[in-house]
Amino acid sequence: MSTPSSPSKQKEMGRPVSIVGTGSFLPRRVLTNADLEKIVDTSDEWITTRTGIKERRIAQPNKATSDMAAEAALKALQDAKIGAEEVDLLICATITPDMPFPSTACFIQKKIGAHNAACFDIGAACSGFLYALKVAKQFIATGAAETVLVIGAEKLSSAVDWTDRNTCVLFGDAAGAAVLRSVPGRRGVIATEMGSDGRQTDILCLPGGGSKHPITAENIVDKLHTIKMAGKETYKFAVTVMQSAALKLLKKAGVDSSEIALVIPHQANLRIIESLADKLDLPREKFFVNLDKYGNTSAASVAVALDEASKSGRLKSGDLVLLVAFGAGLTWAATILEW
Ligand code: ACO
Repeated sequence: MSTPSSPSKQKEMGRPVSIVGTGSFLPRRVLTNADLEKIVDTSDEWITTRTGIKERRIAQPNKATSDMAAEAALKALQDAKIGAEEVDLLICATITPDMPFPSTACFIQKKIGAHNAACFDIGAACSGFLYALKVAKQFIATGAAETVLVIGAEKLSSAVDWTDRNTCVLFGDAAGAAVLRSVPGRRGVIATEMGSDGRQTDILCLPGGGSKHPITAENIVDKLHTIKMAGKETYKFAVTVMQSAALKLLKKAGVDSSEIALVIPHQANLRIIESLADKLDLPREKFFVNLDKYGNTSAASVAVALDEASKSGRLKSGDLVLLVAFGAGLTWAATILEW
C-alpha cells in the first residue's frame, strides 16, 4: 500500500506529457438486462437499482482482445494524426489477454503495424489503464520514449461464468486507447496517485489457467477459469479507495475539487460513483457515466469513457480532468490531467 513516504508521493519530474489522441471500440452485439433474465435468475430492476447497468457489449466468439484493441488503437493514432510506425512504446492493460504469452501488446503491434515499438502488457485489472498512463508518462518525461500508445482492452465475456448471476450481469467487452507525447507548453498529465493491497487478492480474482491452478479437466469442472468476486467486500473497498485516492491526489496536485471540470471514474457501479461525488462535494453532472450502456469493462472502462468524453465535446482545451479507478489486486489509481 502507498504510504506518505512511498515513491508515488515524490514530485513528478521531467518533460510534460500530454494525451494527443484517443480512440475506442465497442462490439456491435448488445446484451440487455432483459436478455440476461433469460439466462440467469435476475431482473432488470435488480441490476438497474444495484448497479445502474442496462446493457453491455459482447464480442464475437472468434474475436480476441487484441482485435478490439487494434481497432481502438488505430482510431487513437488517426485522432492524433500519428503513424503507427512512429510509436516507440506500446502498452496494453488487460486481464483478458489473447493468451498467457506472447503479450497482447505484441499481437496489437502486428495488427496495426507499429513495428518500431517495444511492447508489453500491464495487469492491474480495472486500474490498468491508469497504471499504463503513469508508465507511459515516466518513459516520455525522462526521454526514454517519444510516442507511447496506451491501450485498455478486455474480452470479459470470455472470463465470465454465465451461470453466476453475482458476476455475469456486471461485465462487458470493449477497448480504448490513448496516444501520449510531450507537447511543449501543455501541462498534460499533472499528477498520479497509485497503490495496491496484495492482502486482498482473494476477493476478486480469476484463479485458473495460471501456474497455481493450471488448465486441467478438474479445474474446468470447478470453473476456476471464470471470475470469482466477493461483491460486498469489493464494493466497500471500491468506495473507500476511490475517495481516498482522489482526495490524496487533489492534495498532492494542489487542486481544489471545484476546479475539476470533469471526473471520469471507473465504470463499475453507479452507486460507487455517486458516493465519490458526495465525498468530493461535486455535482453528478461533473461525472462522466456510460456504464448504463457498457457495464464494467475493466481496463477498457476509463479509456473508453475518456474517448467518448472527448468526442462528445464534454472536454474543452484547458479543462482539468480527474481519472480514478480501482480493481482486482486490489489496486487503485487516480490521475489529474489538463486537457
Ligand atoms: N440478480 C438478482 N439477485 C442477485 C443478483 C442478480 N444479478 N446478484 C446477486 N443477487 C442476490 C444475491 O444472491 C444475494 O441474495 P441473498 O441476500 O438472498 O443471498 C443478494 O442479491 C445480494 O445482495 P447485496 O449483497 O445486498 O447486493 P449489493 O447491494 O452488494 O450489490 C453488487 C451487489 C452489485 C455486486 C455490488 O456488491 C457491487 O457492485 N460490488 C462491486 C463489484 C465491482 O465493482 N467489481 C469490480 C470488478 S473490477 C475488476 O477488477 C475485474
